[in-house]
Amino acid sequence: MNTNTINIAIDGPAGAGKSTIAKRLAKKLGYIYVDTGAMYRAMAYYFLQKGIESSDEAAIANACKDVDVTIAYEGNEQQVILNGENITGFIRTEQVGNMASATSVYPVVRTKLVELQRQLAKKENVIMDGRDIGTCVLPDANVKIYLTASSRTRALRRYEELKAKGEDCELDVIEKDIIDRDYRDMHRETSPLKQAEDAVLLDSSDLNIDEVVDAIMKIYEGKMEKE
Ligand code: DC
Repeated sequence: MNTNTINIAIDGPAGAGKSTIAKRLAKKLGYIYVDTGAMYRAMAYYFLQKGIESSDEAAIANACKDVDVTIAYEGNEQQVILNGENITGFIRTEQVGNMASATSVYPVVRTKLVELQRQLAKKENVIMDGRDIGTCVLPDANVKIYLTASSRTRALRRYEELKAKGEDCELDVIEKDIIDRDYRDMHRETSPLKQAEDAVLLDSSDLNIDEVVDAIMKIYEGKMEKE
């Protein structure tokens, strides 16, 4: 892809800290943060509202014709607009996350969103996070990071988050959910989650947020010096 903008791709499994890290980096560098998971969640939210089963590919293909997902920014925060309505506040639930994982297997869903993601990256310097950014959406990204952490670490982080919100939850259930989601995201036919050959692997299990941000900044600076 011929682009004059600078693109940073961060891929990895659910709960690896991609969005927290990407937001920090975007602020540091003055880039736009694009959360592609939120787009798949927006589609999933629509399917759930319509009462469509994740296994009903025909109904999903049909519904895709009526879905318009766009992105807007309020301050530096990405807002997801579904058919003209800002639904950002409704998509961060486990139910929507699982539906997004289940319905993102369909090419009809992916094609629509990948096009939108590429347009954004062409227009602006972006840090984009997701599952297939380095492998499929932006194969020529200037920097590619594959950010991961053990399933237990990721479950613990999610557990702490939910507890802080006063929600009732069980660590083992959260971890099982994460393992199931990883399996689905890594084994689907279209654009499965995997590390791009030219991506740098970062395991955040024993690193705090600042340490991950610093590590990526070093990789970024090294790459930019060479270009
Ligand atoms: O990152 P997240 O948890 O918000 O993503 C929700 C689901 O969306 C994830 O389980 C798989 C799917 N997804 C995808 O298939 N491709 C992306 N680039 C981003 C997310």
